[in-house]
Parts: sequence; C-alpha cells; structure tokens
Amino acid sequence: MDPSLSKLAYLLAAVMFIFGLKRMAHPRTAVMGNWLAATGMAFGVVVALMSSEVVGYIYIGVGILLGAIIGSVVAVKIKMRSMPQLVALFNGFGGFASVFVAGGALLSNSEPGWEGLLATAVSGLIGAVTFSGSFVAFGKLQELKAFKKPFPVPSQHMINGALAVLLLLLISGMATGIAWLYVLIVLVALALGVLLVNSIGGADMPVVIALLNSYSGLAAAATGFVIDNNLLIIAGSLVGASGIILTQLMCKAMNRSLANVLFGGMGGGGSVSMDVDEVYANVRSTSADDVAMILDGAQRVVIVPGYGMAVAQAQHVVRDMAKLLEEAGAQVEYAIHPVAGRMPGHMNVLLAEADVSYDKLKEMDDINPTMETVDVAIVIGANDVVNPIAKTDPESPIAGMPIIDVDKARTVIVIKRSLSPGFAGIPNPLFAADNTLMLFGDGRQAVSDIVTAIKDN
Ligand code: TAP
Repeated sequence: MDPSLSKLAYLLAAVMFIFGLKRMAHPRTAVMGNWLAATGMAFGVVVALMSSEVVGYIYIGVGILLGAIIGSVVAVKIKMRSMPQLVALFNGFGGFASVFVAGGALLSNSEPGWEGLLATAVSGLIGAVTFSGSFVAFGKLQELKAFKKPFPVPSQHMINGALAVLLLLLISGMATGIAWLYVLIVLVALALGVLLVNSIGGADMPVVIALLNSYSGLAAAATGFVIDNNLLIIAGSLVGASGIILTQLMCKAMNRSLANVLFGGMGGGGSVSMDVDEVYANVRSTSADDVAMILDGAQRVVIVPGYGMAVAQAQHVVRDMAKLLEEAGAQVEYAIHPVAGRMPGHMNVLLAEADVSYDKLKEMDDINPTMETVDVAIVIGANDVVNPIAKTDPESPIAGMPIIDVDKARTVIVIKRSLSPGFAGIPNPLFAADNTLMLFGDGRQAVSDIVTAIKDN
C-alpha cells in the first residue's frame, strides 16, 4: 500500500479510537463506542498487514484465529464479578506482546540506531513490568492461595529501588549499542513487576489494575516507536493517558495518593485489631415482613448496592422493589460509590442491565449531604463502601476512603448473608448501629421476599 495512503488510513483509525473513547463515557453510548474503537483496531490491523512486507500470512492468520477464539470464549464465559481479573490478564498479555514485538524488531534489525535501541529497551522494561505485575494482580483478585498474602521480602522498597537503578544502567548500556542487554532488562523488569505488586494488597487492587492498564498502553506506544507505527503510538498513548486518569480518579475516590497506594503497604486485606464479638454484640436482625412494614411509610428510600448485589445477581429484583415503592409514593434513588463492586462502574453496568433509569443513580458526593433526610437506606451486598471505620480508625486499611454515609439515615437495612467482612477484611460497626437492622440472606432471595411482603401488605 502507498505509504501516504496507509498514513491516512491510520489517521482514520485513530479518529475512530478517539470517538469510541468519547462515547464510552456514557452508559447509553458505551456499546456503540466499544464497537467503533474495535472496528478502528480491526481496520488498523488490515492496513498494517497491507502496508508492510509480510512474510508469514499463515502464522498471522492462525494467530488471529486462535486469539479470536480464546478471547471470545473467555469473554462470553467470564462472570461479571471476575471482570477485573480478566482486565488484569488482558493488560498482562498486552505488555507481553510489546516485549516480543520489540524483541523481534531488535533481532531483525542488524543496525539499530541509539533511538531505536532506547525505545526497544523502554518497551521491554514497561512491557515486562506490566506482564508480571498483572499476573500477580490476577492471582490476588482470583484469591489464589499463593497470592493471598504478600510473600515476605526483607527491605522490599530498597530492593525495588536497587532494581530500578540497575534497570536504568542496563537501559543506558543498551542505548550505547549493547543489544543483548535487552534480555537482562526484561528479566529484571519481570522481577520488579512481581515485587511492586506483591506488597500492594486487597483494597488497593483496583487502582493497581488501572495503573497497569496505563503501563500496557505506554509499552505499546514505545513499541510503536520501535517499529515506526504511528497508529500503535496513538493507540498506546490513548490507553496510557486514559489509564492514568482512571488511576487518579480512583485514588481520589479512596482519598489516597498514588504514592501511598504503591509504597504505603496499606490495604493488605488484613484486619485491624478489633474484637469482632465486641463490635457485633448489639446486632439486631429483621425479617422481610418487617422490612416491608418499615418501607410502608417511607417517603425517601436510598438503595446502596455493593459487590454482593453482583454476586447475587439481584439487580432485576431490586428494580422491581424500587418500582413498587415508587408506586406507593416514595422517592427512590441509588447511591453509587466509585469503588463499589470489583471494577469501575460495576454498579452502573448492573443497574443499566436491569433498565434502571440513569438519572436515579446518584454519585456519592451528591447524595451524602442529603443522607440525613433519608427515611430508609437499604444496603444490598455492600460492606467496605459503607464502613464508618474509614472515618474513625486511622489504622484501618480503608482509612480516609470516603464512604456513603448511610449511618445518617433514619433506618438502615443491611442485606447480606452473614457478618463476614468485605474485600478489605475488616469488621463493620454499621451492622451493630442503633438504627441498623440486618436482613440475613442471599441478596436476590432477600429482596424478592421483601417484594412479596410489600405486595401482600
Ligand atoms: P465488599 O466490601 O467486598 O462487601 C461485599 C459484601 O457482599 C460482603 O461482605 C458479602 O457478605 C456480601 N455478599 C456476597 N455475596 C452475597 C450475596 N449472594 N448476597 C448478599 N450479600 C452478599 O463490597 P463493596 O462494599 O462493594 O466494596 C468494594 C470493595 O472492593 C472495596 O474495598 C474496594 O476497594 C474493593 N475493590 C473495588 C474494585 C472496584 S474498581 N470497584 C475492584 C477491586 C476491589 P456476606 O458474605 O456476609 O454475604
């Protein structure tokens, strides 16, 4: 293909990425945005194949076919609650691909200049950190036994610092022309990726995934410089920039700095020193019939969904309950915490799937100042995001994380199966508060029991 024609085609694909991203900003246009960006990528791949001297069409074809089959099967089969793990894997494979593409370019180029060597080194470094870091993040989110607790590394920050300095030396060495240092860079970066994510624990994993997503984009952009492909540079930069913006937003939602997440060693999913029996001494449980009666006179009801709503797949029956309450004259809203569930926008996606009107979803900062006027707050499968310990215990893994102030509502109904902790692994004094009643049971079953009781009333 004529080089100027291929550049024009790449520009078109890049425009499709940008408009795709823009559309992903709203649930109503997100699916379309995804299609647009995916079409842009498919178009870019075709143009890349047509504009370079391709030697192994068969290998490429088989690779695309295998990748498409594996990707489609995994995407169809994956449970919504395991989506963050899948994203971690995708990030990891993205980084891995950059390591191999940059390495392959190094092998096929007999006289690379220092710029090419530098870009290759950076590509290998970021790609390998992304790959190994993402796999540790996957292991932690999947709660694999080997990753449940960080493995002990003495003076870990010092070792990380030493590895970073070593990598800088290796990269400088490679830029002066010693190409084989690439292998060492990749190996040291793999170790660094493992160590960086090893010490970061449970509650901070979403931030890490977003950051690794950004890294995978940066690795791809660096690889774009290696193989002189503008589209890869643009696509990689878009992923890198959007990943870092998401990382910042999530840090803000948890009231943490990125440095604190990465080096603070907090959020290890550990437990604060609290006597659980003491915290839960005054827990009062209730029944679906009683909840229906409490809701009978409520003017303003706020539903706070969390990870447990996703596990129970309770979103449809929650919508049915809200409809009944609205028909009885109550105002019903949904309070959405930015890190409720296990991935950004998790609750929004679930509620959109159940056709809950988007204007009923209220962000935490908007609803919190009005919580005192709420008659009944119904917490469904949420725990950490409504845990008042975040405000009172500076030693807690979620210290400083803003929460939805359900404790200020007149009555709080918490629906969950037991008094088990949430993701951060800590007790929640909300469950024993004077204005809280626990409705124990599976989220979907409990809410459908409430629906039946409301209808019977
Ligand atoms: P969690 O604190 O994880 O609490 C979820 C609760 O749901 C559990 O205590 C569990 O209690 C209950 N549950 C589980 N299955 C249930 C079912 N079938 N029916 C009813 N309840 C059920 O959830 P959250 O409040 O949404 O907070 C999210 C946490 O995950 C935060 O710590 C956040 O940092 C972290 N995180 C967030 C993300 C993103 S980006 N959203 C990604 C990874 C991690 P029982 O076992 O007693 O039922």
